[in-house]
Amino acid sequence: MNFPEKVSLNGEILNTQEAKISVFDRGFLFGDGIYEVMIQVNGKLFHAQEHMSRLQYSLKEIELNYDISNLKKEINNLLVVSELTTQDCLIYIQITRGVAPRKHAFPKDSVPTCLIYALPKEFPKINNSSYNVVTQNDFRWAKCHIKMTSLLGNVLANQFATENDAYETLLIRAGVFTEASHCNVFFVKDEIVYTHPANEFILNGITRQLVVKLCNDLNIELREEGYPVNLIKEIDEAFLTGTTTQVGVIVKINNRVLPNGESAGPITKRLQQAFSELL
Ligand code: PDD
Repeated sequence: MNFPEKVSLNGEILNTQEAKISVFDRGFLFGDGIYEVMIQVNGKLFHAQEHMSRLQYSLKEIELNYDISNLKKEINNLLVVSELTTQDCLIYIQITRGVAPRKHAFPKDSVPTCLIYALPKEFPKINNSSYNVVTQNDFRWAKCHIKMTSLLGNVLANQFATENDAYETLLIRAGVFTEASHCNVFFVKDEIVYTHPANEFILNGITRQLVVKLCNDLNIELREEGYPVNLIKEIDEAFLTGTTTQVGVIVKINNRVLPNGESAGPITKRLQQAFSELL
């Protein structure tokens, strides 16, 4: 993956090499910040309002005052300057608590730092990849509902997947699957779809929310319950959801092949098809 040529830093568009932040930025020192990832497909930001609302929610949860009303304009300016207005791309937004002498408690008068970048990326109508996943205890903190930049727990979990030739690590807390390092996870058993409830132990993915709604629209029974680890050998299908993963089929969990082998099971296939129609 490449670096973008341009970034937007505090509303100013700069060549990436010229964009600088202080070594005393709290995003660097403490991971004291939040972020969002959204995509543009067919020249349109996909569910931008939902991403903006979640960004606002994350800001509120970390008590960071930042006016997001200019962000859409800043994203648009960046896309124009980067010649990406008609290309499919990924957009990353990060807001930190800004620069202050290092002290844990919030500084009184720091000015938040806002970074935006966009990178061209192809999004197939249906994600045809088949994913291997591994499992690990969910050792992260108990505020996973905040989309925060302190991602070390997720980084370690994803590294564990990479070292085990897998795409993702499914995380286990109190005997149930919560989510994965950068995706939500769904299981299918006897035509019922299960996913962890949207509480403080998962990030409530925008893709997750769309899939929950699609289940409802397609009359597929959905239970927002953590799927028990001890029943994992009985599942019929499993899939991941996320902004860049879309709806991605899981084919192997800890090297055990799922009943549909390399292909998507019937419910996953219906949801992938319905999801592709939203794009
Ligand atoms: N990851 N759970 C976690 C921990 C995530 O980091 C993500 C997104 C999701 C899925 O959320 P959404 O459907 O809104 O993308 C679930 C992003 C893409 C990332 O960190 O790059």
